[in-house]
Amino acid sequence: MEIRFEKRPVLKEKPDQKNLGFGKYMTDYMFVMDWKKGEGWHDARIVPHEPIAIDPACVVLHYAQETFEGMKAYRTESGKIQLFRPEMNARRMNRSNDRLCMPEIPEEDFVQAVKALVKVEEDWVPSEKDTSLYIRPFMFATEASLGVHMASAYKFIVICCPVGAYYPTGLDPVKILVEDELVRAVKGGTGFTKCGGNYAGSILGQIKAEKMGYTQVLWLDGETRTYVEEVGTMNIMFKIAGEIYTAPVDEGTVLAGITRDSMIQLLRKWGYKVNETHLSVHDLMKAGHDGTLEEVFGTGTAAVISPVGELRYKDDEVIINDFKTGELTQKLYDTLTGIQWGRIEDEFGWTTGIEE
Ligand code: COI
Repeated sequence: MEIRFEKRPVLKEKPDQKNLGFGKYMTDYMFVMDWKKGEGWHDARIVPHEPIAIDPACVVLHYAQETFEGMKAYRTESGKIQLFRPEMNARRMNRSNDRLCMPEIPEEDFVQAVKALVKVEEDWVPSEKDTSLYIRPFMFATEASLGVHMASAYKFIVICCPVGAYYPTGLDPVKILVEDELVRAVKGGTGFTKCGGNYAGSILGQIKAEKMGYTQVLWLDGETRTYVEEVGTMNIMFKIAGEIYTAPVDEGTVLAGITRDSMIQLLRKWGYKVNETHLSVHDLMKAGHDGTLEEVFGTGTAAVISPVGELRYKDDEVIINDFKTGELTQKLYDTLTGIQWGRIEDEFGWTTGIEE
């Protein structure tokens, strides 16, 4: 794929690396590519990051035909910049696009676009501990038409922003509310995709949780509201009596997290039994009360790994590991971030330099 480059006259001032937060500061450039029926993908370009004009009748504004991805570029101690399993994001985006009737992006074009943009934005990849360059590829329908149908035109854009920890608490445990009324996904729906609509529908639950003093929502299955599925922006894992439990991702309701998959590979390598199965909230709370619920942690690209210190379901509440980060949670965090930032040898072949 050929990518043209449009230079901006003046570069932005870079923010203080100690106060990046999440998703607040956009870099200088973005990657853009257009798709048109009969023509396919064309005009790949890296251009200044600035507002784009779209028609008010644009399909995405009315029917939410949009998908996105989340990934990061890491600066290693030697200054090398690397990505983590970018082909997994490319594949997942195509699975999302397939469900939402949006065009496929060749995997190699997706990875090339990301690498080319990060190369241009090299100086934006921060070096402070636990900071990275968050990369947000997304695609949406641009056709101006109010009929509900597969659109005839789409845009694929990649933007970046230097980030610190997703939660201001960092690796400190968070409090999670089990949502017993609203649901996120049902079988046959879009739960497994990364589409904007899934997140729009989750905000009400998030607000409810925050009002009650919780950081995130733990969603139950949409049909019976019995089995734990995922947290607002993360997959979730439970260590009960020495074994790991997490919801299966092959039934269409749970996002196939790349961090989740990496954690499972690490855990199995270390000899843990990982059960990708349905765990009922009743069994979970029971384990919390009888002392067998040893650790709970969320996994995601943005949040990496987030220990859970408290779970609330209706009027029931359990505190996990005395509200402290568990030993295994810490080991997983140290190992994964060690590989991502190049401090630990990558025996899985998960990392790739932006110039490779
Ligand atoms: C990520 O972890 O990269 C995500 O996409 C979650 C996001 C909605 C903040």
